Parts: sequence; structure tokens; C-alpha cells
Amino acid sequence: MVKIGDIELDVPFFQAPLSGYTDYAMRKLAFEMGCPLAFTGVMLDKVAVHPKAVRKLKFQPGIDERPVGAQVMGATPEVMAQASAAFEKMGYDLIDLNFACPAPKVLRRGRGGCMLTKPETAIEIFKQVRDAVKCPVTVKLRICYGYMDGTEENFWQICEGLSNAGVDAIAIHGRSVKGMYRGKADWKTIKAVKEKFPATKIFGSGDIMDAQTAVERYKSTGIDGIVIARGAIGNPWIFREARALFEGKPMPEGPSLEEQGIMMLRHFEMLLNMNPERKSVPYFRKFSARYTKRHPQRKKVLMALLKPKTREGIHDAIRKWYGVGMEEISDESIAVNLRS
Ligand SMILES: Cc1cc2nc3c(=O)[nH]c(=O)nc-3n(C[C@H](O)[C@H](O)[C@H](O)COP(=O)(O)O)c2cc1C
Repeated sequence: MVKIGDIELDVPFFQAPLSGYTDYAMRKLAFEMGCPLAFTGVMLDKVAVHPKAVRKLKFQPGIDERPVGAQVMGATPEVMAQASAAFEKMGYDLIDLNFACPAPKVLRRGRGGCMLTKPETAIEIFKQVRDAVKCPVTVKLRICYGYMDGTEENFWQICEGLSNAGVDAIAIHGRSVKGMYRGKADWKTIKAVKEKFPATKIFGSGDIMDAQTAVERYKSTGIDGIVIARGAIGNPWIFREARALFEGKPMPEGPSLEEQGIMMLRHFEMLLNMNPERKSVPYFRKFSARYTKRHPQRKKVLMALLKPKTREGIHDAIRKWYGVGMEEISDESIAVNLRS
């Protein structure tokens, strides 16, 4: 059991924030497969303070995905606090502050991973957000800005400041900001943070591509949770598998082709229930690239799924390669149930 504030989670494997991926559809399927906590992709603080913008479907949490964390990013404590309060009001169960994003345009504006160069601001943002909301507040952090540039110390300063100020959990991606997604994640540092701050909940992130690795990292580091990022794209079954292994059960059999096809179809249809066809069809391609990894004829199937420009074309490809169609799924299973 993991406790984040008053939120109780029965297994320590969570859906990481993934910009451009972890929307309602992906999060809902992760929950169905046994994930106990999921995060939105990063959202700018200034979005939340615009009433018109937050009414957009893509910013709304769902009824049937719970608990879900809103990930917020910005540069100033006051706006971050205002935005966090707005997300809480929209129904999100917790607030996660992004001090990790390495995108150059984000760094140029002093946001995300830039916090590793200004630890006082990072801690001040946390404190003001903490005061502005009732729900748990967590932080996503990288282990330094660049290696050997002196910002490793800032990392430790931020961890200490957040721990002293009562952070509900720190999720650490074991790479530098400058390192983007290159190289192997440094799990030694993640483990060392837990050893130094045993009373603080620490989650680890980096290179968790399968359930075995998720469970192994959890056991070997003594941390409180593992966030699964790229390993969960087009692979919600990773949560079912991690849960089984964690409970000491054998690795579950992989999903049948039929189960895979139904999952894809539902994912795609939920996207269509939130976005027009001309957006949903290309958007689904990046998921197809991952879903098809389990298919014995991956190359052909992927080609067939990347080509279509219409809903019907995607349906035809799924029917041809997975043997399932819309008659197999209910309206309820693709409904988008938002909280407001
Ligand atoms: C496409 C993509 C989008 C991401 N978006 C976010 C994001 O919005 N917020 C965040 O904190 N991390 C984001 N991340 C980082 C992941 O949450 C995770 O920490 C990182 O990918 C390391 O885990 P992995 O090696 O298991 O993928 C993103 C990563 C990828 C690959």
C-alpha cells in the first residue's frame, strides 16, 4: 500500500505523465488494466487561469479514471498556485509540478527543467501551490540540469527543501535535463534520495519498458513507487503484468490478438469521441506503432494501420489483422465520461 496524502494506492506502479499521449483515453485504459494512479501530460499554468481554455474537453478529468493528477508547469509561484487551485476545482485528485521538462522552448521561458538552475524558485513554487490547494502535491524532477555543471547540488537542495515543506511525493526521472532521453537512467541517485530522505515518498522513472523491470527496480531501490512512461504506450497490459508479479503470481499470458484488437478499437473510438476524425486518425498512428509490437506480423500490420486516412480505414485494418470490429464493443466501453 502506498499513501499519497490521503490517497491510498494498492500497488506501486503508476502511469507517468506523457505529453501528447496520456489523455483521458490512454489513462482510462491504464486504470482498467490495474494502474492505480495516472497523470495528465504537462499543462501550462496560464491555460488553467483562462476559464475558456479549461472548458476544452482535453483538459477535463474523467469520472471513471481516479485518482488522476494534473501536471502543471510554469515559472512563477503566483501563477502556478492559481493554476493548481483551478485544476483542483476542475476535479483533479492531485497536483504534480513539472520541474523536469527538457524542451528547449520550455527552458528558454524559465519553466520545467530550468528549475534545476533556480532551486529557491522551485521550492517557493511548491510552497505557494501547497498553500493554494487541499489535495496532495507531488513534484516531477530530473537529477541535475547538466552533468558536472554544479546543478547536482541544486537537485539535492530542491529535494531537501521539498521534503521539509511537506511534499507528498517526488517523482525522479534519473536523467539530466540536458540529457533529454539519451543514455541510461541513473537509478543509483534515485535510490540515494530515498536513503537520504526516508520519510519522503520517492517515485522513480526511467527505462521501465516491461513489468519485470518495474518490479525489480521497486524491490532493489526501496523507493515507494515506479512511474511507467514509454513502456505503457500502446501497452496498458504492463500494469496487469506488474500487478501480478508484485503479488507473487506468475507472469500473465500476453493478451490474445482479439484482446489487442478490442483495446485498439476502444482507444481509437474514445479519441474519436473527443476529437474530429481528421485529428484522431493521424494522432492514433503513434499508438499503433506501439500496439503492433505484440503482433507476430508486426511490419505488415503497422503498414496497414499507418496508411488509412479515415475511421473506416482503421477499422478495416483492425478487422483484417486482429479479427475484431465494432460489433464486439459496446457504446458504454467507449463513452467519454467527464467530471464536469
Ligand atoms: C513523448 C514523451 C512525453 C513526455 N511528457 C512528459 C510530461 O508531459 N511530463 C513529464 O513530467 N514527463 C514527461 N515525459 C517523461 C516521462 O514521464 C518519463 O519520466 C521519461 O520518459 C523516462 O521514463 P522512460 O525512460 O521509462 O520512458 C515524457 C516522455 C516522453 C517520451
